[in-house]
Amino acid sequence: MTNSETKATLSFSDGSPSIEMPIYKGSIGPDVIDIRKLYGATGKFTYDPGFMSTAACNSSITYIDGDKGELLYRGYPIEQLAQNGGDFLESCYLLLNGELPNAEQKEKFVETVTKHTMVHEQMQFFFRGFRRDAHPMSVLVGTVGALASFYHDSLDINDAHHREVSAIRLIAKMPTLVAMAYKYSIGQPFVYPRNDLSYSANFMYMMFSNPCEPYKVNEVLVRALDRILVLHADHEQNASTSTVRLAGSSGANPFACIAAGIACLWGPAHGGANEAALSMLEEIGSVDNIAHFIEQVKDKNSGVKLMGFGHRVYKNYDPRAKLMRETCYEVLNELGLQDDPLFKLAMALEKIALEDEYFVSRKLYPNVDFYSGIVQRALGIPTALFTGIFALARTVGWVAQWKEMISDPEQKIGRPRQLFVGSPKRDVPAMDKR
Ligand code: ACO
Repeated sequence: MTNSETKATLSFSDGSPSIEMPIYKGSIGPDVIDIRKLYGATGKFTYDPGFMSTAACNSSITYIDGDKGELLYRGYPIEQLAQNGGDFLESCYLLLNGELPNAEQKEKFVETVTKHTMVHEQMQFFFRGFRRDAHPMSVLVGTVGALASFYHDSLDINDAHHREVSAIRLIAKMPTLVAMAYKYSIGQPFVYPRNDLSYSANFMYMMFSNPCEPYKVNEVLVRALDRILVLHADHEQNASTSTVRLAGSSGANPFACIAAGIACLWGPAHGGANEAALSMLEEIGSVDNIAHFIEQVKDKNSGVKLMGFGHRVYKNYDPRAKLMRETCYEVLNELGLQDDPLFKLAMALEKIALEDEYFVSRKLYPNVDFYSGIVQRALGIPTALFTGIFALARTVGWVAQWKEMISDPEQKIGRPRQLFVGSPKRDVPAMDKR
């Protein structure tokens, strides 16, 4: 952490002495006030549910400017990474190593990841223990956590080489596990990875091929999937990433930490939103029903939200939503589904919401999930697996953030404080006195 040049003075109206706290400047974005000595000096904590104003770490991986609607991986705008021909593994290398690979580094990285795509043969028994109708996220929480019991040779988190090997294993094996979860749910045989295919093509192959007929890779669909992965690869200190960091802060192994991240991602306010957005579109059903639906959304008592809209950080159009809408066009054209009623409905809903005072005044814009569900459905991915695809994409971000945390000398076990509002100390009364 850089030394501070400016200081903040906190003064109290209750007569406590004021204290000075250092202010640090990031390379971009808001400054932070270092309050680490606050409790020692004043006996007071800060109160910040949901971490609305709290930077829990310093990081040089991903930067979001929510007002501008800008997302940078290691300084590079997401639009350039998604549109200039680089694939998902290139973004993975960037997130993990800080720089884009040159041709030789890329080739070596792709080869290393590709050689780790198989999972231990016994992993299939974990899958077979689940009900066929289990939610894929439940299967993934279990099976990713279970990886720790197979790869003992890379669990020493204090060894940089072990951390590297675990990172590669997680990135390489996630597509295999997600595809296995899908195959199991539909009662088809697991499909082994094919190392002559690209990362995204191999995933499509493991998902959609079967032993009875040849599978032809469709490059347009592969590119769409690859873009979904690039767009979801990292998103700074969101709920699941913070969960991974918090789990990792205790020294837990990376497989356990990523399993914790998957559990957090499952929630409808986070990764579950694309599934919820698609269900919402299906429920609205037709453009004629939009007005009534919007009325419900505005009625606070209804509990209805416009899923795929709003974001804790973006108070402008989510840059990923624009790219996802572009991909939506490409995929629907390729499949001859230009008149897809859900896509038309989504566009009509977006247009109305972007003009409506309720959404405008609250700066609620479409987020990436508004369109990603439609794309995934067109690719043939079942709704219940959408969040699993998100987890597959986000694994690299989680791993990069976990690795950054482990090598940060300022890292401490995460341990928030509380404002206690329960009963003060009291004596346990005898049973007949209660
Ligand atoms: N529909 C209707 N109203 C909304 C929505 C929405 N989707 N999102 C926020 N609001 C309203 C809130 O009710 C609140 O109104 P009020 O000021 O009158 O009380 C105001 O906008 C501010 O919203 P908050 O909930 O305070 O915003 P917060 O930053 O806490 O929440 C969140 C962000 C959780 C993403 C929220 O917008 C939401 O639930 N959206 C729908 C779910 C979704 O799409 N999640 C995906 C997030 S992106 C991702 O994880 C990849």
